[in-house]
Amino acid sequence: MTDFQEPQTIRITCAPGLVDYLRHEVEELGYTVDSSRPTGLEITAGMHDAMRLNLFLRTAFNVLVLIDAFTCTDPDELYRHVRALRWEEMISPDEYLSVVSSVNTPTISDWRFASLKVKDAIVDRVASVMGARPNSGPQRENLVVHLYWNGDDAQILLNTSGRKLADRNYRKMPHKAPMQETLAAAVILATGYDGSVPLVNPMCGSGTLAIEAALIASGRPPGLLRSNFGFMHRKGFDSDAWQALRRGAKKIRNKGAIAPIVATDIDADAIQAARKNAETAGVHHLIRFEVCDFAETPIPPERGIVILNPEYGERLGVIADLEQTYKRMGDFFKQQCPGWTGYIFTGNLELAKKVGLRASRRMEFFNAKIDCRLLKYELYEGTRRKDD
Ligand SMILES: C[S@@+](CC[C@H](N)C(=O)[O-])C[C@H]1O[C@@H](n2cnc3c(N)ncnc32)[C@H](O)[C@@H]1O
Repeated sequence: MTDFQEPQTIRITCAPGLVDYLRHEVEELGYTVDSSRPTGLEITAGMHDAMRLNLFLRTAFNVLVLIDAFTCTDPDELYRHVRALRWEEMISPDEYLSVVSSVNTPTISDWRFASLKVKDAIVDRVASVMGARPNSGPQRENLVVHLYWNGDDAQILLNTSGRKLADRNYRKMPHKAPMQETLAAAVILATGYDGSVPLVNPMCGSGTLAIEAALIASGRPPGLLRSNFGFMHRKGFDSDAWQALRRGAKKIRNKGAIAPIVATDIDADAIQAARKNAETAGVHHLIRFEVCDFAETPIPPERGIVILNPEYGERLGVIADLEQTYKRMGDFFKQQCPGWTGYIFTGNLELAKKVGLRASRRMEFFNAKIDCRLLKYELYEGTRRKDD
C-alpha cells in the first residue's frame, strides 16, 4: 500500500469544461501537471500537498490519492486484491467508510455491486487485523474510497476531499437555479477579475458569482469555509500540519484595496438569500446588495466588469418574455455600461442573439449537462447594436 509520506499520484477532478482553469490554479500553486483529461488532471505530490490543494483550489471537485492500480477481471479478484491492502494503517474500526464506484467492465453490470465488494474487502480486512469492523454507508462525510474500474484496469483511490469541494458551506439559502460554486469561480476567473476594478452582477440570484468574486478579490481560499474534509478521517491525520496550513492561508489575504462589488436582483427573496450566503462566506462587507430590475443597477463611476446570468427558459411562453429581457440586456450594456467589459452566461444561444451586440469572445462551459457560453462584450463608448 502507498506510503503516505512519499510522493504519490494525486488525481484532481473537476466538472466538464473547467480543466483549463483547474490546471492554471494547480500550476499557480507550484505543481507540475503530469497528465490531464476533460474532467481532471494528475500530479505527483504528498499528503500535505493534498491538504493544501483542498484548501486552495476554487475549481476542483475532489482531490484523490491513488492507493493502488491493478489488473482485475472479476468481482472476486477485486475483493481479494482490495483485501490484501493494509487498510488497518488507514482506517480505524470506529471510523465510517463510504465507497464510490465508476465501473465500465463486462464482468459487472451494477456499480453498486462493485462498491459492495470493495466495502466488504476493506471492513473484512480491518476486522481481521483489529478485531472490529468500521461502519459503512452512503454518507460522504468521513472516509471515502473510490473504485475506478475500466476494462481490466482497476484503481483504488482515497478521496481526501470527502464531499465535493463545490460544496463550500456558505450557500445555506440556494434560491432558484443557483450556479454551482466551482462553475461560478471558473466563470469569474475567465473574466480575468482580480478585485482591482468594480464588478457588477445584476440578476445575482443567491449571489454565487458575487461571493466567489469577493473570495477571489480578497484572496480567501474557499477551503477555509469548510470544517470537514475526507483526509481528516484517515488514521494518522496530521492535525498540526493542517492547522499550520490554515493559519498560513489566513495570512496571505489580498492586502490591496478591493474595488466595489455590486449584486442586484429583482426578487427580494433572492437578495435576502444572497446577503445571508455572503455573511456565511464572510464577504458581506465587500458586496453592496440591492433589490431592483437589472437595468436600474447602480453602476460605479470607475470602469469594470458587468456580468449577468439570466434564466435560459425551456417553456415557450417563458421564452417570449425572455426574448424581451435579453434585448433589454443589450440596451442596458449599450446605454449604461460604456467603457465596461460585459459578460453574459447563458445556456440558450438563440436567446443570446436577442442581446443584439457582437460578442468578442465565446467561452464554452457546461452547467450540469447544458452546453453554455460565457459571452464577452467590449462595450466601447458609442457601442452600436448589430441591427442599428
Ligand atoms: C439563473 S438565476 C441567477 C442565478 C445565480 N447566478 C446564482 O448562482 O444564484 C437568474 C436571476 O435573474 C433574476 N431576474 C429575472 N429577471 C430579472 C430582472 N428583470 N431584473 C433583475 N433580476 C431579474 C431572477 O430573480 C433570478 O434570481
